Amino acid sequence: MGSIKVAILGFGTVGSGVYELIEAQQERLIQLTGRRVEVVAVLVEDVSRQRDVRPDVLVTDDFEDILRLPELDVVFEAIVGVEPGFTHLKKAIESGVQVVTANKELFAHKGIELRELAEECDVQVGFEATVAGGVPIIGALTQLLRMNRIVKVEAILNGTSNYMLTKMREEQMTIDEALSEAQALGYAEADPTNDIEGFDALFKVVILSELLTEVKVDWNQVRCSGISNLTSGDINHASTRGERIKHVGRLLIDEEGQVEAEVRPVSVDEAHKLYSIEGVDNGVVVTADLVGELVFQGPGAGKYPTASVMIEDLVLISKSIKKTAVSR
Ligand code: HSE
Repeated sequence: MGSIKVAILGFGTVGSGVYELIEAQQERLIQLTGRRVEVVAVLVEDVSRQRDVRPDVLVTDDFEDILRLPELDVVFEAIVGVEPGFTHLKKAIESGVQVVTANKELFAHKGIELRELAEECDVQVGFEATVAGGVPIIGALTQLLRMNRIVKVEAILNGTSNYMLTKMREEQMTIDEALSEAQALGYAEADPTNDIEGFDALFKVVILSELLTEVKVDWNQVRCSGISNLTSGDINHASTRGERIKHVGRLLIDEEGQVEAEVRPVSVDEAHKLYSIEGVDNGVVVTADLVGELVFQGPGAGKYPTASVMIEDLVLISKSIKKTAVSR
């Protein structure tokens, strides 16, 4: 049996993490999927830059080169922004190629459309990495909590801002110092505006809402603010009350499926489940009618946690690949 052939779109922190993990974890991948996983191409913006990839990997800035590859099975997408990722993924799906994405902005805007298209084309879309980094919350909600009706989700969904708030409180760092560290550690976006203004967490709340209700979110109805206006004074003031400021995304879903959503800094006391979620960790508190309250916690950003869940998606999807590989 041939290998599973994959292409990686975007070769920044996450894309290169996917490449490295695939190269390093062949044995486990063969055990799990029954085949070798072979990165055959990467899509980059600047082909003149030296990339640390095997010499037989096609490095191109033209997605059409990738689509033309014979027997391409999976596309991993780790580009920033809605375009060009959306157009690439649409074309991949229409060509019968499975897709795995980490692109929150794209999935928040176009997730329902892509999932519908994928269903029509009998292709799988993995998007675990779009929400909460390495925490497998999408899988938990879609595969493990099907009998339960989810009534509330309260979550820290941006690793960068949680890391910054933790450092500002524990080490009295300024907001700029804390951001510089988060950037150096590969947690922040290349342009960190979406991290600190709350939009990155908003994208994730939208993805969760659409996943749970299958209804497109009216973005105008979602209040969104980030941590950029918080001062050390605000953080210290919360500490004197025994509280911590956390950047929280909240979803309330009523019995008719009506959703109330917001994203904003909240001062929480020690009794709150999100109080102890610190550093780059994300925390997702899910309240469901049968099981009650569940808490998921883990690294919300970073190269390998994010790449790891993308590869988990690949393993799940690999069962569909055999079918597709024959019919293409
Ligand atoms: N910049 C994002 C964060 C990366 O800090 O959460 C993971 O989506």
